[in-house]
Amino acid sequence: MGDRNEDVVISLRSVAKRFGDADAVIDLSLDMHAGQVVALVGPSGCGKTTTLKMINRLVEPSSGSIEVLGQDHRTLPAHELRRQIGYVIQQIGLFPHRTIGRNIGVVPELLGWEKGEIAARVGELVELVGLEPDVLGRYPRELSGGQQQRVGVARALAADPPILLMDEPYSAVDPLVRERLQDDLLTLQARVGKTIVLVTHDIDEAIKLGDRVAVLNVGGVLEQYDAPDELLRSPASAFVAAFLGRERGLRRLGLLKVADVGLEAGPVIAPTATAADAIAVAASHSTPWVAVVDDQALVGWISLDDLQRAPGAASVGSLPARPFVATVTPATPLREALDLIVRSRTRRAAVLDADTYLGMVTIDTVAGGLE
Ligand SMILES: Nc1ncnc2c1ncn2[C@@H]1O[C@H](COP(=O)(O)OP(=O)(O)O)[C@@H](O)[C@H]1O
Ligand SMILES: [Mg+2]
Repeated sequence: MGDRNEDVVISLRSVAKRFGDADAVIDLSLDMHAGQVVALVGPSGCGKTTTLKMINRLVEPSSGSIEVLGQDHRTLPAHELRRQIGYVIQQIGLFPHRTIGRNIGVVPELLGWEKGEIAARVGELVELVGLEPDVLGRYPRELSGGQQQRVGVARALAADPPILLMDEPYSAVDPLVRERLQDDLLTLQARVGKTIVLVTHDIDEAIKLGDRVAVLNVGGVLEQYDAPDELLRSPASAFVAAFLGRERGLRRLGLLKVADVGLEAGPVIAPTATAADAIAVAASHSTPWVAVVDDQALVGWISLDDLQRAPGAASVGSLPARPFVATVTPATPLREALDLIVRSRTRRAAVLDADTYLGMVTIDTVAGGLE
């Protein structure tokens, strides 16, 4: 998504919120773009929840204005806001005496949909959030925390709102379940393409889920608003750097892919070449081995020792090649590629797209990608 104005779905303009004589949010301006996940991250009490609640008018701003879908949201009637904005909270807040099916259908019911329409939509949603249909007749207390969380997301999406607000949605579940739910949110988002505002105090969650991350300081002071990679590459302030914590370089490698860095051709030789040619290629790359590539397909590697033992005129193809262990694809995260590289004897990973050999990644090419 570009930064063109017509893509802006939510726009906060100099928004402030004062509770009594304490400022929760002092002066926040922020644009959120269609189809993006914006993660609002910051320490406890910095005004994240207040900001989210101002967007759906559970909290009225003391000053400033908020536009939702190009309209001042104060002019949108309550039922209209409910249709445009889904809301997921940490405590989930399911109705204990309603079945899961009726919990999911609560907004369509409020909006006066037909029973059959509601049932059809609830069926779709259960599948969309990765629940089994047999949960529909059960009650919230009969579900695990992770399942309840999925019900909360299904309920928020029921009327197919373009906007989804999520307040610390995964903080109540254990880390393994949390990781699974985060992965599933990304899969879900790839299908539904909502504009999602996700509040979290967990910077790793923000980096994993956000297309853009807004780092807030106390008073809702916006310290930085950037793509995760940019945040890690270049923190705008000491506060942001401290909040990001350690291993910024390694964490960036988790976001970047092999396709994002330049590749080395590597010490490559055709099977029709001679052992003497292969020795020359190994020498020019200072490697004790060569990679045999037959018409773009990687056959394997041959050690310099084996080449030197063979007659100089022998063809490379007649010598036994060993399989490459360290192989990656253009879609492999750089962090995973680096792990393979440091564990591989050749200090390289071969990049394959299906069977086609594209080149090699090395520690140098990976480091170059971070610049
Ligand atoms: N309803 C309220 N009444 C009084 N103070 C509030 C209320 N809601 C939030 N606050 C205060 O506003 C500040 C920001 O709170 P909040 O938005 O909940 O922070 P966060 O979600 O980032 O932890 C805190 O100091 C909090 O105590
Ligand atoms: Mg909060």
